[in-house]
Amino acid sequence: MRRTLLTGATGTLGRALRPRLREAGRSVRAASRSPPADTDGDWVELDLTTGDGVEAAMEGVDVVVHAATAPTGDSAAVDVAGTERLLAAAAEADVSNFVYVSIVGVDEIPLSYYRHKLDAERAVESSEVPATVLRATQFHEFVDDVLAAVSRLPVWPLPTRLRVQPLAVGEAADAVVEHATPEASGRVAPVGGPEVRTLGELARSYRETRGLRRPIVRLPIPGRVAAGFRAGEATCPDRAVGTVTWEEWLAARHGTDTATEVPSTGASP
Ligand SMILES: NC(=O)c1ccc[n+]([C@@H]2O[C@H](COP(=O)([O-])OP(=O)(O)OC[C@H]3O[C@@H](n4cnc5c(N)ncnc54)[C@H](OP(=O)(O)O)[C@@H]3O)[C@@H](O)[C@H]2O)c1
Repeated sequence: MRRTLLTGATGTLGRALRPRLREAGRSVRAASRSPPADTDGDWVELDLTTGDGVEAAMEGVDVVVHAATAPTGDSAAVDVAGTERLLAAAAEADVSNFVYVSIVGVDEIPLSYYRHKLDAERAVESSEVPATVLRATQFHEFVDDVLAAVSRLPVWPLPTRLRVQPLAVGEAADAVVEHATPEASGRVAPVGGPEVRTLGELARSYRETRGLRRPIVRLPIPGRVAAGFRAGEATCPDRAVGTVTWEEWLAARHGTDTATEVPSTGASP
């Protein structure tokens, strides 16, 4: 059987994808710059910035699931040049389906990371390698990370009116696996979480689940990026295929957490 190369296998989505691809009967070769020491199965070292390991990783591969990314790093080098490098090796290896995971709204919201994701989508779609492009909305883990960062502050300054549609990463992975077959599907319908919510609503549920009482203060953010999120450009309400709500995910993730904080006034917008 030919193999499925999974890039970004140590990431949030990659960790959900690997067992699902295996359950779907695929022989998975997992890749990242630093594979875990204690893992089972086929793991390779691959650096999309330098190209180290890319050609070797592609040996015997018919499907690539490309989930490596550098949202807070050099996304031009990793997401754009790295994707082009991976595509060139995939063409050499006669890969029959290059699955690219992208984000809802990358063509509408002028965030520099999103521009790089859009450039990568274009590289994938103009490549000679048959491809599948699947966009997803933000994962619950991403929203959790954002709120965890502000939760250390005595007051939470947040752009409360931004609209997002958080999705369980396992449900995003299920949608990717459905298309990770030897036949490419082209651009497929995006996947979104069950509800479009404001960041303010999500923050209040987060605060409640974690037993915190810090005030949430609306932080007005000017510019087209925030305006795009406020307008719901990062959401796809007609593709609300996820079933796990933010509150259900929070209860599973933080339900037993014991929060510690200094008492606050408890004021809330
Ligand atoms: N997070 C979200 O809310 C969200 C929503 C929709 C779509 N997506 C998309 O889903 C995909 C996966 O996102 P994620 O959140 O799982 O990302 P992540 O958790 O940040 O993981 C990124 C992965 O990329 C690998 N990586 C980074 N730099 C690399 C390099 N130079 N060479 C090779 N591998 C490199 C990392 O592995 P090492 O560090 O071990 O190399 C890691 O496995 C991305 O395409 C993202 O745009 C994410």
